[in-house]
Amino acid sequence: MKQISRRDFTRTSVAAGASAALSRMRILGANDRINIGIIGPGDRGMQIWPIFLKQPDVAPVAVCDVYQPYLSRAAAACNTKVATHEDFRRLLDIKEIDAVVVATPDHWHALPTIMACQAGKDVYCEKPLSLTVVEGRKMVEAARKHNRVVQTGSQQRSGPHYQQAVKLIQEGGIGAVHKISAGFTRNAMPGFKHEEILSKELPKELNWDMWLGPAPYVPYDPFRCLYHFRWFWDYSGGQMTNWGAHNLDIARWALNAKSPTAVSGFGGRYEIKDGGQTPDVQEVLYNFNGCVVSWSGREVNRTRDEYLVFHGAKGTLSIMRNGFTIAPEIWRKKEQPEIEPMQMKGNGGESQVLHIRNFLDCVKSRQRPIADVEEGHLTAVMCHLGNIATRLQRSLKWNGEKEEIAGDKEAAQMLSRPYRKPWKLE
Ligand SMILES: NC(=O)c1ccc[n+]([C@@H]2O[C@H](COP(=O)([O-])OP(=O)(O)OC[C@H]3O[C@@H](n4cnc5c(N)ncnc54)[C@H](O)[C@@H]3O)[C@@H](O)[C@H]2O)c1
Repeated sequence: MKQISRRDFTRTSVAAGASAALSRMRILGANDRINIGIIGPGDRGMQIWPIFLKQPDVAPVAVCDVYQPYLSRAAAACNTKVATHEDFRRLLDIKEIDAVVVATPDHWHALPTIMACQAGKDVYCEKPLSLTVVEGRKMVEAARKHNRVVQTGSQQRSGPHYQQAVKLIQEGGIGAVHKISAGFTRNAMPGFKHEEILSKELPKELNWDMWLGPAPYVPYDPFRCLYHFRWFWDYSGGQMTNWGAHNLDIARWALNAKSPTAVSGFGGRYEIKDGGQTPDVQEVLYNFNGCVVSWSGREVNRTRDEYLVFHGAKGTLSIMRNGFTIAPEIWRKKEQPEIEPMQMKGNGGESQVLHIRNFLDCVKSRQRPIADVEEGHLTAVMCHLGNIATRLQRSLKWNGEKEEIAGDKEAAQMLSRPYRKPWKLE
């Protein structure tokens, strides 16, 4: 089996983001400091904040969280005195901040990102970019209007093996690709405990109203809050948006396509009875005119890891964070395959560092980052359409140019959500 090494890749890669980022890393001057703040340093935030802090050109200035223990934890990680705020608008008021990291739950991605752009700050916003299609478009508009660098936290794009795989596929390395299988499967039975992180009583250190923000008011419920917000439609889109923002993102990138033309979806929360709402079984099909992309989401059966598979006429490329393999296909009446088996190792941790580096380098160069806000938006649109089709249990026609669902008023209404006052999407 042919091994593609990291050296082969950096010599031949056309994936502009990675090689450009790597070369810029070497010429960084010690004086080029980026003043940075973080909004929502919870579980994910504390995976990426320490990576930001380790970069020699990053100076932490402020942290913001509505949960005091997480706020103090993020401030302590800075090893220098930083401002602490419960209200992200106060963090955005700090003039010296150049860039912010938004690692809040999905329902709190759009407003801090848009308001940061309005305040002249660049943004690293966690994936999925948005909670709704309309929010995502507004985020793109804000980034463009205020000429901001906005990176979506879909870090697989910065993985050298993902870039090499995309290049190989686009150059016809596995033949014509007319089917891509993407998904995320695991066995999370019997579901999740409601008080895994927080107690039943509203903790005095948590500002629940500010945690809910633009989402509909509900009495405090620990299961809706830290981490588990993922299983509720008001705050997230389940594994479809959680993992689709990674694996459908690479599928769409390899296809070099903006949007599907039609989407069908089926599934529901059939077996897990823990009070969550998002599906435990979900099958979605996307039509890309010449390629069918499927999404299989399962929380009740894992079988095997099959995150992303490109089915080419000459070979099948299966990719995960730890690498990819290519298994050659043998055509009818042929004895030998046309291509060799191949593999390339990957490293998820390294991809994450490169992704943050790509953002910081773009903050300086003013280039578009590798997971630019528009790419994050278009991938989130795929995920949201998959969820809308699944919730309505039917097929939808999508006009990607106008970002409209044709001939289905009920589905079209689900492209946006009302915001709870005083929050407005502007
Ligand atoms: N790129 C990746 O691989 C990856 C991995 C995990 C999570 N994520 C994304 O990160 C985001 C956060 O997920 P998580 O698991 O860390 O959730 P979490 O609940 O652990 O963290 C979210 C944090 O945001 C805070 N918060 C909520 N509302 C706020 C507000 N108005 N102002 C300031 N802080 C607020 C919460 O108190 C919490 O500390 C999600 O969008 C998720 O999809 C990305």
